[in-house]
Amino acid sequence: MTRTVYVNGDYLPETEARVSIFDRGFLMADGVYEVTSVLGGRLIDFGGHLARLQRSLDELEMSNPLDAAEWLEVHRQLIARNGIDDGMVYLQVTRGNPGDRDFAFPGADCAPTVVLFTQSKPGLADSPAAKAGWKVISLPDIRWGRRDIKTVQLLYPSMAKMAAKKAGVDDAWLVEDGFVTEGTSNNAYIVKGNRIVTRALGHDILHGITRAAVLRFAREAQMEVEERNFSIDEAKAADEAFVTSASAFVMPVVQIDGVDLGDGRPGSVATRLREIYIDEMKKAAL
Ligand code: PDD
Repeated sequence: MTRTVYVNGDYLPETEARVSIFDRGFLMADGVYEVTSVLGGRLIDFGGHLARLQRSLDELEMSNPLDAAEWLEVHRQLIARNGIDDGMVYLQVTRGNPGDRDFAFPGADCAPTVVLFTQSKPGLADSPAAKAGWKVISLPDIRWGRRDIKTVQLLYPSMAKMAAKKAGVDDAWLVEDGFVTEGTSNNAYIVKGNRIVTRALGHDILHGITRAAVLRFAREAQMEVEERNFSIDEAKAADEAFVTSASAFVMPVVQIDGVDLGDGRPGSVATRLREIYIDEMKKAAL
């Protein structure tokens, strides 16, 4: 089926969508993006994703091309036009096409490029992976120093994902100065007893929208949350571990660098938080 996508104000078949070769997103990864999940045809935590989009744009001195109501309308149109029940909507805003390649930012007359598309993922919330849990390896984090900005600069995360696949596992946890930063495209957590440990927010990790909601639900469920650095050795000795992202929700991690956590099966804290997260977010979906 040919998807309908959105490019700069137009809804088009994907085969007719065009972006210039001079677009700074293409030449310089000068753009930001968001991924919002869809469950039962409705958007999960849309407000959170829009707020982070604004923050990413502000950090890069880019203007926001659409207002909140317009963003919601485009998302809903794409869900409807593509008949998405479960899946995701991807949005990307780049600094646009200044007509030439130049390291300096173009002036305000250069319009941003706005692209959105959907991906259908039937049964997204019932993924068999969540029952088995993910295995991860650790790799050095060699990304740039502003990972809090959600840019389309995703080469190293892709390379790390491929290294994980070659090692026969699901993902990689990235390590900087002896401490875990995050997964290739998710935030990372360990659990010891009733305490959840995850890295504090800063420039070195993405401020996950799922992370914010999951930590809120954890505190409401009387779980202890500690936002601090942890090492791979501490993670290997944890009772359980998990990652969060808009597409994986709460995904248990059962093995790190070949070492099984607990009994090597998804832990009770991760399993419970996954249930709470999916239930609560479905109720609040737009
Ligand atoms: N990735 N950390 C990184 C590096 C990420 O790329 C992501 C999201 C997250 C989790 O953020 P959130 O909970 O807001 O999705 C953390 C998206 C899903 C992606 O690139 O597909």
